Amino acid sequence: MCGIVGYIGKNQNIRVGIEALRRLEYRGYDSAGVAWYNPEKREIFCLKKAGRIDNLEKAILESNLDLNGNPFILHTRWATHGGVTDENAHPHWDCKKNIFLVHNGIIENYKKLKDGLIKEGHKFSSETDTEVLCHLIEKHFQGNLEEAVIKALREVRGTYSIIVIAKEDPGKIVSVRLSSPLLLGVNQKEVFVSSDPSAVITHTRQIINLDDNEIVVLKPDNFHILKEKPSIQIDWTPEEAQKGGYSHFMLKEIMEEPETIENAIRGRLLPEEGNVKLGGLISIEDKLREIKKINLVACGTASFAARVGEYMLEEYAGIPTEFDVGSEIRYRKPVIDKDIAAIFISQSGETADTLAALREMKEKGILTLGITNVIGSTQTRETDAGVYTRSGPEIAVASTKAFIGQLVTLAMLTVFLGRQRDMSLVTGKRIVSELSKLPELAKKILKSAPEIQKLAEKYKDYKNLYYIGRKYNYPIAREGAHKIKEVAYIHAEGLRAGELKHCELALIDEKFPTIALCPSDSVYEKMISNIQQIKARNGLVIAIATEGNEEIKKNADDVIYIPKTLEMLTPILSVIPLHLFAYYTAVALGKDIDKPKNLAKSVTVE
Ligand code: AGP
Repeated sequence: MCGIVGYIGKNQNIRVGIEALRRLEYRGYDSAGVAWYNPEKREIFCLKKAGRIDNLEKAILESNLDLNGNPFILHTRWATHGGVTDENAHPHWDCKKNIFLVHNGIIENYKKLKDGLIKEGHKFSSETDTEVLCHLIEKHFQGNLEEAVIKALREVRGTYSIIVIAKEDPGKIVSVRLSSPLLLGVNQKEVFVSSDPSAVITHTRQIINLDDNEIVVLKPDNFHILKEKPSIQIDWTPEEAQKGGYSHFMLKEIMEEPETIENAIRGRLLPEEGNVKLGGLISIEDKLREIKKINLVACGTASFAARVGEYMLEEYAGIPTEFDVGSEIRYRKPVIDKDIAAIFISQSGETADTLAALREMKEKGILTLGITNVIGSTQTRETDAGVYTRSGPEIAVASTKAFIGQLVTLAMLTVFLGRQRDMSLVTGKRIVSELSKLPELAKKILKSAPEIQKLAEKYKDYKNLYYIGRKYNYPIAREGAHKIKEVAYIHAEGLRAGELKHCELALIDEKFPTIALCPSDSVYEKMISNIQQIKARNGLVIAIATEGNEEIKKNADDVIYIPKTLEMLTPILSVIPLHLFAYYTAVALGKDIDKPKNLAKSVTVE
């Protein structure tokens, strides 16, 4: 989840690279760096800084280095391994400062590779997974950079797009991708290689998308890909390019939901053991075995993930679990025993109410854990341990893919804590196996986006909406209502379906639609009764139901289908159509989707 750029061509000043990097800042913005070959000194110079690109610019201005040179490589970071420090920023280098490299992706077997390289005498200067690539290439380097890269990558498992230069093989860039985007931008006088078209679009619209395992060697006047490929003409504006061609960040981020699931589970599932491996919890594994209760704390969308977690942890891990929002728990004087763990869930890791509750809990001396997206955020620094959701940068104010990352992480945590207790091997295996299928199932739901858009247009003018669900899907009803209020400004309420008859039915008539979450699960029959209560009062119903359920069409006006999965995992799928529905309703109403009025991405005030 980083942005990378490489340049080789007639321009001899690294500024052209910095400008390109600025257009990638939306991809990751916790550190930035540049390395360039200076032909006069026959050295590669490198500057890198934690913080925004402005910090790097400042370092460049203050340095006495000769800024002329070519080729150059640049990186803007969204941390996945290692904190946000100058040392962990890219580019990274080998022991001899010959190989310099930038990387987007994750090296899954880096720990094993690093241990082996250290034994062979390599000295590491960062905590990143990326640095192993530099030392591996160094190990295989005999004067030809592309040969060394090819040999090194045979030992690597993971996803990557990398851009590499070498002092001892100057005048070229070597670049390669595997499951991580990479493209060339070409014109008469230069070649760019980047993770993103937005970096190159002001220089050229001639783009060549690279495929997995294609190695490209760029030289000042030509480039060579191991197989010939035609270029294509793209007609995006620089603005659109940052959104990957989508009209809004919110849509781009919803479309990234399958990838978010993949990133969250990558390298963490242990199918044979019916378990998961969560690196951030290893140091407190024994303490976790002893805990008798869990308190979940979060705000906004993250609070609905926490509510789903409450159901998961009680049903499958057998641990009494209680949820409250950050702004309440700190004032309501909860009874806290020492053998409790408090788990704080936040995309940003900077939400003031959640942090205040975290500090209260710490003062009481209880174990604190974080489920966080942003590495190095306050929440990650102040909790005793935690798990990253690895959802990547979320730019739209409305949280979508980060919510999916939180749900997947809570499901994995449930398996981990459950297997420490009474969860059987069979149950553990079943959950792990179903988790691994989710990315494909999520992709299938996204294919129904055009039908969901039509529904959004049909229902956009109603002034009120109910979202109803039971058990695991009650919090998803809350999230559906939250999202449509936030981006489409339609009044909506997320309700426990069983509570309707105690009050909310009073408002139902033909002008009041309800979205009913009714997958085929243990509460399906109850949901059908609730839907019938609405229909008996002339209410309109859109059902979110499991594929193959034809009967539901008799009870609902419209149906959106989702694939079958385990009941505890249904929220991860059922929320996807609700995110799309909120998005397309806001589009149909012409709202400012990525920046809703009166709201901020990170709520750092109480
Ligand atoms: C979600 O769409 C909202 N923007 C908001 O409710 C958000 O989830 C809440 O402010 C919590 O943010 P956090 O996950 O960064 O802590």
